[in-house]
Amino acid sequence: MQDPLLDAALRVRTLAYAPYSKFHVGAALEDSDGRIHTGCNVENASYGLTNCAERTAVFKAISEGVRSFRRIAVAADSAPLTPPCGACRQVLWEICGDMEVVLVNLQGETESMRLKDLLPRPFDAAHP
Ligand code: THU
Repeated sequence: MQDPLLDAALRVRTLAYAPYSKFHVGAALEDSDGRIHTGCNVENASYGLTNCAERTAVFKAISEGVRSFRRIAVAADSAPLTPPCGACRQVLWEICGDMEVVLVNLQGETESMRLKDLLPRPFDAAHP
């Protein structure tokens, strides 16, 4: 790939811990300084404790003191391309706001979209 963010998402996908679903996902989050924070999905025998790749990347970055982000890439072996799940959309909105979301698969197919289009009318700090 030409884009280092997509390369990072594809690379970290190979580290996924997904013995139950066997569906490996990688995410790469670019911060406003251009640094890349990666994450893979981490499953658990108690299925509900699974953490998606996107949230792993967000939580890693936040716990390193990073607060400002530009875009995220999500890599999976799927056609159609895999977008973030509902829980991840909500977490991404909270932390990153309306950023670019780029999907990629192992064939190198990509698609770019905005988070606000994936999560229209979000619940957030403006509402409680
Ligand atoms: N998964 C992600 O990591 N990100 C997504 O965007 C979709 C789903 C993971 C969760 C679970 O480990 C596996 O994919 C199957 O749902």
